[in-house]
Amino acid sequence: MTLAIWNCLDIDGMNDSSTIINSEIAPSSKIYKGCLIRNSFIGEDCLCADDVVVDRSRLADHVEVGRRSYVQDSSFGFGSYIGPNSLVKFTDIAKFTSIAWNISIGGSNHDYGCPSMYTSYWWKKVFGVKIPDHNEGLTGTIGNGVWIGSGVNIMRGIHIGDGAVIGAGSIVTKDVPPCAIVCNQGGAAKVLKYRFSESLVADFLESEWWNWPKELIVQHSDLLSIKMTNESVKRMIEIKRSL
Ligand SMILES: CC(C)(COP(=O)(O)OP(=O)(O)OC[C@H]1O[C@@H](n2cnc3c(N)ncnc32)[C@H](O)[C@@H]1OP(=O)(O)O)[C@@H](O)C(=O)NCCC(=O)NCCS
Repeated sequence: MTLAIWNCLDIDGMNDSSTIINSEIAPSSKIYKGCLIRNSFIGEDCLCADDVVVDRSRLADHVEVGRRSYVQDSSFGFGSYIGPNSLVKFTDIAKFTSIAWNISIGGSNHDYGCPSMYTSYWWKKVFGVKIPDHNEGLTGTIGNGVWIGSGVNIMRGIHIGDGAVIGAGSIVTKDVPPCAIVCNQGGAAKVLKYRFSESLVADFLESEWWNWPKELIVQHSDLLSIKMTNESVKRMIEIKRSL
């Protein structure tokens, strides 16, 4: 693995506060200040504006990533771009696609069937425990020549067809056919369903697992990171009562 801190003496558009780790960047591309480019490939005439992160990703030629945007485990095809304050994870974007600002694409789903909704990353970080990644292998795609308006949220693993239009503020939970124009149709947030049955919810709340000492959470990490059942939640209540 190679680590380099860019210096801007001889490369136009580069800034010495950006960090490049184990990546290949075409000389004609511009990396502005505060960026982190890691384990990635960046083609010709690309632009990463201030404070952009590109991690384990591939940008083809003529791609732009707007200020404070975050691209991880994804790819952008020739001539596609995304505006500022956006996040793209686990998504392959084809060519000539225009993506506005304040966009979220491919955020992980947390398994709400388990008592703890932490992902594997957080189990590892906070408790040092390794659990399976519930989102493993779930990659979305966005076709060629798509237009995505501002403030759109596209769920993990969704496929958007070539030439589609995603209206501003849309929340996309289903695949979109080629050339379709989709927009939110409906009102404000309402209860869709509950994570557990009514009696399980009551037991779950009684367990208050989040108030257990950290050592007990680690000791019972298997209980908290598998689907909750009548038996497992009873066990959780016993643990709480033993405190
Ligand atoms: C989706 C979009 C392209 C549709 O444009 P249009 O074809 O001109 O559509 P209209 O304005 O004629 O609207 C048609 C209907 O859809 C509704 N509508 C339009 N855009 C909508 C949206 N984003 N969300 C929900 N409803 C929307 C309108 O209210 C209208 O409803 P009505 O028939 O009940 O009155 C456009 O509204 C849009 O969202 N553009 C994105 C702009 C943007 O984010 N630009 C960022 C820079 S790239």
